[in-house]
Amino acid sequence: MVKSLRGMNDILSEDYERFTYFINTATDVAQRYGFHFIETPLLEETALFKRSVGESSDIVGKEMYQFIDKGKNDVCLRPEGTAGVVRAFIQKKLDKAGGIHRFFYHGSMFRYERPQKGRLRQFHQFGVESFGIDSVYEDANMIMMVADILRECGIGYRLQINSLGDNNCMPEYRDNLVKFVTECKDEVCEDCIRRLDINPIRVLDCKNEKCQTLYTNAPKLINNLCEACETDFTKLKKILDDNEINYEIDTNLVRGLDYYSKTAFEFVSDDIGSQSAIAGGGRYDRLVEFLDGRPTPAVGFAMGIERLMELIQMPQDIKSGYYIGAMDEETVDLVVQLAHKKRHTDKVTIDYKAKNFKNHIKGADKVNAKYFVLIGSNEIESGKIVVKNVEDKSENTINIKDF
Ligand code: HAM
Repeated sequence: MVKSLRGMNDILSEDYERFTYFINTATDVAQRYGFHFIETPLLEETALFKRSVGESSDIVGKEMYQFIDKGKNDVCLRPEGTAGVVRAFIQKKLDKAGGIHRFFYHGSMFRYERPQKGRLRQFHQFGVESFGIDSVYEDANMIMMVADILRECGIGYRLQINSLGDNNCMPEYRDNLVKFVTECKDEVCEDCIRRLDINPIRVLDCKNEKCQTLYTNAPKLINNLCEACETDFTKLKKILDDNEINYEIDTNLVRGLDYYSKTAFEFVSDDIGSQSAIAGGGRYDRLVEFLDGRPTPAVGFAMGIERLMELIQMPQDIKSGYYIGAMDEETVDLVVQLAHKKRHTDKVTIDYKAKNFKNHIKGADKVNAKYFVLIGSNEIESGKIVVKNVEDKSENTINIKDF
């Protein structure tokens, strides 16, 4: 039997309902916050991800779906959405235009990870990226958006925040950290030795238990912030407090991608097992310039849709649309015609086979139809049909031609 690849799932039936419900809800929230849809290609030059997500990240180091295409280009299936959106932003010269640009997107991402519950090789993200705002209010805005989306989907969460500092305070902190890790170099894992050379603060994100224990005594980012970063972080906490969004400060939260500075945040759920991160993001003020654009402040987040689908509380079954059934074979054609017309405005379910009342009711129930219409020879003769409202049991007799 032909099977899908490991870590790559089909989404259909009830899962698809949850999937589209989430995307519709998140889209609605993003539009209320003034974000516009952007679609970028699934395939990009490998160099884009190496330069943005970063050589020290597991994503670039181990997980890329990378290959040489027929034109001998080194390409890669996108492992995340930010890099492509930043590339598009620069390519369309929006960095030169200045002003505020806010985008949202959703789609497949690819990471060659070891599949397990909540961890796939092809998964879906809903993400947003905001360009041109150098204010911590926008960082808080991102967090409030995630909180709104989760609330509307009935999903509980814990929010973790941290500040990674900026070009002023990060280098000194990095030196202190390198000194600390070098002193215990014999005890840390190989990945951390590699990170030490490329992006030392990523050691704090190491999943190795021995390293984690060692790093509890490491210098803390948060105690090394410069005045500007400190002020922003204090302000962020105040805005979250004012808006009644609970948070925890996680001093080791550095995120798995290299492009962040200042605010970093993650939303986690305690109800889905070990892969508990349901959303993550932060500020990345240096990335546009790093990819050869004009320096532009930016901040964003992405949410993992498969993980959220486990948690979504769907609204109670809401009845909607019409079910039209034929009582005898001669009326099937008319049922098709009426459905065709009615579908200009409403959802309509029909059956191409004539059935008795009981079986049609079952059919209407299955699709949660709000209105129920049966057509037999009597209806054809009188030119009238009865439209039943299944919810409040009311009935309305109307001319077929007015339906
Ligand atoms: P990320 O933390 O790598 O951030 O991914 C965001 C979310 O995608 C995670 O919190 C998780 O829910 C989901 N996710 C990641 N990997 C997998 C996987 N293998 N299987 C299932 N779900 C997964 C980013 O991707 C950044 N681009 C977010 C961002 C946008 N930062 C600024 N703007």
